[in-house]
Amino acid sequence: LRGRSLSVTSLSGLPRWEVEELPVEDLLLFEVAWEVTNKVGGIYTVIQTKAKTTADEWGDNYFLIGPYFEHNMKTQVERCEPINDAIRRAVDTMNKHGCQVYFGRWLIEGSPYVVLFDIGSSAWNLDRWKGDLWEACSVGIPYHDREANDMLIFGSLTAWFLKEVTDHADGKHVISQFHEWQAGTGLILSRARKLPIATIFTTHATLLGRYLCAANIDFYNHLDKFDIDKEAGERQIYHRYCMERASVHCAHVFTTVSEITAIEAEHMLKRKPDVVTPNGLSVKKFSAVHEFQNLHATYKARIQDFVRGHFYGHLDFDLEKTLFLFIAGRYEFSNKGADIFLEMHKSDVTVVVFFIMPAKTNNFNVETLKGQAVRKQLWDIAHSVKEKFGKKLYDALLRGEIPDMNNILDRDDVTVMKRAIFSTQRQSLPPVTTHNMIDDSTDPILSTIRRIGLFNNRTDRVKVILHPEFLSSTSPLLPMDYEEFVRGCHLGVFPSYYEPWGYTPAECTVMGIPSVTTNLSGFGCFMQEHVADPTAYGIYIVDRRFQSPDDSCNQLTQFLYGFCKQSRRQRIIQRNRTERLSDLLDWRYLGRYYQHARYLTLSRAFPDKFHMEPTSPPTTEGFKYPRPSSVPPSPSGSQVSSPQSSDVEDEEDERYNEEEEAERDRLNIKSPLSLGRVPRGKKKLHGEYKN
Ligand code: UDP
Ligand code: G6P
Ligand code: GLC
Repeated sequence: LRGRSLSVTSLSGLPRWEVEELPVEDLLLFEVAWEVTNKVGGIYTVIQTKAKTTADEWGDNYFLIGPYFEHNMKTQVERCEPINDAIRRAVDTMNKHGCQVYFGRWLIEGSPYVVLFDIGSSAWNLDRWKGDLWEACSVGIPYHDREANDMLIFGSLTAWFLKEVTDHADGKHVISQFHEWQAGTGLILSRARKLPIATIFTTHATLLGRYLCAANIDFYNHLDKFDIDKEAGERQIYHRYCMERASVHCAHVFTTVSEITAIEAEHMLKRKPDVVTPNGLSVKKFSAVHEFQNLHATYKARIQDFVRGHFYGHLDFDLEKTLFLFIAGRYEFSNKGADIFLEMHKSDVTVVVFFIMPAKTNNFNVETLKGQAVRKQLWDIAHSVKEKFGKKLYDALLRGEIPDMNNILDRDDVTVMKRAIFSTQRQSLPPVTTHNMIDDSTDPILSTIRRIGLFNNRTDRVKVILHPEFLSSTSPLLPMDYEEFVRGCHLGVFPSYYEPWGYTPAECTVMGIPSVTTNLSGFGCFMQEHVADPTAYGIYIVDRRFQSPDDSCNQLTQFLYGFCKQSRRQRIIQRNRTERLSDLLDWRYLGRYYQHARYLTLSRAFPDKFHMEPTSPPTTEGFKYPRPSSVPPSPSGSQVSSPQSSDVEDEEDERYNEEEEAERDRLNIKSPLSLGRVPRGKKKLHGEYKN
């Protein structure tokens, strides 16, 4: 861990403005990303969750462009014929030239059109396209970097497609938004060929930022001091970094997902983003206010079952008093803060901590599978004994007798049960990982677990389970999808050091599950800016910017300790509050930043058609969630909030308090959505379409 305290001066708030509607019927909008129909990480979440609001606004004039993979196509896309003439011609022309271009509807909310390119079938063009890239911006891609070569093919196909479309666009103006360096060559080539397109480049991170942080460099204190060309060269990513930087500088409008990444981009890519577009989610509202609380209880029961199996023979802890904490995401040990999460184990409450981070494995391990089998066997035995018992009891009652409890089970039943209990004896400790890890000895999570000796001993009040694979409802071990799992847990812990946005805590929030984030994540900063007392709402923000790593660790420990000391009632109230922040993260609210970027690019690319008044810099005034008025106060630090209550409380009583407090807060807190076209600032810009 590094000594860090950030020297960047301001992370100013988000701009506020009102946008007027675009004449979408006279426009075509394309969004290009490697993660269209192709799940890798958070960019997929951006595209997939935003589709509905964008499709609602743009209808049949909205298209997503991505790579073709057979499996994704089969499971997510319904093929159809393009109704737009320019698109149909472009697809046909390219197919005639030997490319494989697929068109269809992506079967997600909003069912947007997708254009997917098969990279492999166009690979024979690679050398020519390398030449094109070199001519456009003097960037060469080495032969051995397969991924960068694939991105060039993807970009070349995109630029070709956009050329065909603009040639026949029938007077329609075209906007194309490219996400991340992987899609960037499409932008570079389109601009080099002077295609009449208004372009946006959106970065979700910088290549150098991610690399430098992963190398444990004190990044934020040295932002202005890096010799970036040299750093990129030493890490053998010089060509990728050039592709990224060229994309940034070719775009009419450059955007990124958070203020903190905007500052990073200014230093690592030498351009200040024009617009920050915070990431939203598609928020599901249940008709019953407490539905999300019920879902928590339902899915928690499923996790409890898994835990019963995993810790068979060692179940000397009360599951009703066990809390489930988790961290999940791509396996970047220190960037995602798994390192500091592990260092805070010195606590005395019982929690089960899950690490859901994909790594190379060789299937589930036998001991883990056995655990679930043993649990299942015990359940079956209990069930059959219960059936027999029930029948005898019923017969006795029919005869008007109370059965003799000493004889109600026969000797065979007792024998079967004894044998079952014997089968729960184990020689080894419950495993700390569910899979056979290929890099077991060097794996950073396992190495840390070994160093701090957290082996799931009976006496450990913190148990750990590393599940080195994303969750799936078809898993034979833990058959739950990620969303169900999150709902069943008590707290998400994401103490990231490098996190341009960080969807994982945002997803917890809209599901009403509290989470830990940091002031180095885009999400954490956003919440700090828009919520007066984030902790009171179950958003714990660890300061990883202005204090030492040890102090950050201690702060995290305090947060977790405070969280674990809450009563059930306090947790229920806290979940209600957390869920109330959902509107702030809804695309219906945050989508306006994308609208603004689209406006801006039109006004820059086609200034005589689209007019924009000179804009003053965006201001920070606007909406902020107030501190909740009612008790209990925030369970911050180690101070447990009042009222104190035991875990064995009357559910009726809980419900009453919960609803009463919800009502009080509701009177006090307006949602940003209820404010209409909010947040309302001065009207700063409007688009004008002259035709
Ligand atoms: N995720 C998932 N399954 C899991 C764990 C995580 O689908 O088991 C998803 C999660 O829902 C989130 C994404 O992976 O949308 C991670 O996005 P984030 O922005 O947090 O990080 P990134 O990977 O983009 O750096
Ligand atoms: C939800 C359910 C309650 C349940 C509670 C458990 O609120 O509606 O019936 O008691 O979850 O909360 P806990 O934090 O202990 O998992
Ligand atoms: C990137 C970032 C992540 C962000 C996601 C979506 O992969 O690592 O923090 O949430 O993109 O913008």
